[in-house]
Amino acid sequence: MRVEFMKKRTDCGCLRVSDVSKEVILQGWAHSIRDHGSTIFIDIRDHYGITQLVAELSKFNEQEQKEIKSLSRESVIEIKGIVKKRPEGTTNENLATGEIEVEVKTIRILNACETLPYNWQDYQTSEIFSRLRYRYIDLRNPRFQKNIETRSRIASEIRKYLEELGFLEIETPMLTKSTPEGARDYLVPSRIHKGKFYALPQSPQLYKQMLMISGFDKYYQFARCLRDEDLRIDRQPEFTQIDLEMAFIDQDDIISVVEGIMVRIFDKILNVKLQAPFPRMSYKEAMSRYGTDKPDTRYGLEIEDIMDLIPKDIPIFKDIFESKGCIKAIKADGLANLSKKKLEKLISQLRRFVRNYKAKDIGHITIKSDKIKSPLTRFLDEKQIQKIIKRMDAREGDLILFVGAEEKIVLRTLGEVRTKLAREHDLIPQDKFNFLWVIDFPLFEWDEDEERWVAMHHPFTSCKKEFINNFDTNQAEAIANAYDIVLNGFELGGGSIRINKPEIQERMFKALGIDEKTVQRNFSFLVEALKYGAPPHGGLAIGFDRLVMLMVGEDNIREVIAFPKTKSAILPLGGAPSIVDDSQLEELGIEIKPEYKIQNIS
Ligand code: AMO
Repeated sequence: MRVEFMKKRTDCGCLRVSDVSKEVILQGWAHSIRDHGSTIFIDIRDHYGITQLVAELSKFNEQEQKEIKSLSRESVIEIKGIVKKRPEGTTNENLATGEIEVEVKTIRILNACETLPYNWQDYQTSEIFSRLRYRYIDLRNPRFQKNIETRSRIASEIRKYLEELGFLEIETPMLTKSTPEGARDYLVPSRIHKGKFYALPQSPQLYKQMLMISGFDKYYQFARCLRDEDLRIDRQPEFTQIDLEMAFIDQDDIISVVEGIMVRIFDKILNVKLQAPFPRMSYKEAMSRYGTDKPDTRYGLEIEDIMDLIPKDIPIFKDIFESKGCIKAIKADGLANLSKKKLEKLISQLRRFVRNYKAKDIGHITIKSDKIKSPLTRFLDEKQIQKIIKRMDAREGDLILFVGAEEKIVLRTLGEVRTKLAREHDLIPQDKFNFLWVIDFPLFEWDEDEERWVAMHHPFTSCKKEFINNFDTNQAEAIANAYDIVLNGFELGGGSIRINKPEIQERMFKALGIDEKTVQRNFSFLVEALKYGAPPHGGLAIGFDRLVMLMVGEDNIREVIAFPKTKSAILPLGGAPSIVDDSQLEELGIEIKPEYKIQNIS
């Protein structure tokens, strides 16, 4: 092959008609190859785009022709050529470089690609394990290149914004102390101190509080956090927070910093002008209207109470009246217009679905032009049913769904049904970003399994001042200085104003039923630090992966993380977790129980 190359390469997305006649060097992947006999068309791709190359075989010697003919897709090539305007009628409007092509003068194969074990163009039908096993191929997909690039641009914009406000980025330790009261920790055994463990941080919570006590005033960090918990579409074991903390501030200050970040990045990255301040809603209102503390406010289907419209003596609800439960309903616009078969299928599906949330059943009223259908017609007369329809503001074609049970169960169930219906029946308007602050969270929640109060946010969260005297004796009532930012039904971030007095922190641990010894062992450094000049402080952490996922319109955070884990917390590329050599275990003073021993086959 001819070996004369210019030093500077041109990227594969930038050539236009104004570049016609220029001599260029392009380097990248053979994205597609079309063999037209005497002419070979190659689309060359790099991070920046795709350019069409044209190689007239007659212009190359025999050896070169052979190499060009044998070129495989995804091989890495380097070409030198002349930019030409594409012949009339062959322009590709879907391509930024679609008006030109490059006539190849010389070509060099820098890395010949073997048969691909996984073709990134098939990503939608490929198993996630294969995609992640060959993530370096998967990431060649321009869609994921764009996601990762946008992620980087969002991070950069946030850094600029926070630094303009005077925030300092400060790193906190990755090898930290294991503390209870959160998700499960990832533990790291210590070699030097055999029998002891570090914990990887679930968040930098206590260290950022220490920084406030040190006088750093405004802290932020793109913090890697690790939590050993069940995974979902918006949860990974390793994730990133934009972690913030400020001293001498109140809830409104934090809210305005976070709103400022959102306004700035949505404008700069998506050219979307957000309206701040964002709406605020109390936890109580969110739960009663939407059955969740992270409501998606892009669509209605709000929960209404209909208990007062139901006679107390009808058999299906007798238990509910006797046990002081409640009956609530939602209305799905237009769903009664589904065909009879589809509607029956939907109802029976929902009857099974609600059992996941401990509801025994879900009832319905379908409002059709000719008649109203409902199991309730056996017990309620026309007038009584009409009252429910009026309360629900329902019209012809609407479907009313109702659940009766203990209030907690009813709200949770209808909240889940609401989301399911909206997702599965296209009731969600696209291209909308509905931010919402959920405020006034309870300080505690009752843990049914452990049969004790646990902190709803975390144990370092302060209560509203009106509860300061009795938050630890009346846990059910106490309201926290805690707030979440919600975007389109996802909890984007959460934070609180912290406890800054040692005696209150100690009362908090007691209220959570954490015994003196555990406090001593795990939290004494915090209580101690609060004794030596701790300013009032508070903060919040935004889930960065979730933020990027929502901004780029993906529906799983793994699509915006370069090397994510599978649902069962495996990192397929490289293969983690893995067994380690006996000598490594020896050094750590660790022995694997015989039932967990896996033979090292290598
Ligand atoms: P919290 O636990 O609410 O608060 O976490 C803050 C935000 O982090 C994101 N997040 C996750 N993202 C991906 N995968 C996960 N497993 C995961 N877990 C949480 C969410 C969540 O809203 N230290 C406190 C913050 C504070 O009080 O300042 C904290 O970590 O978007």
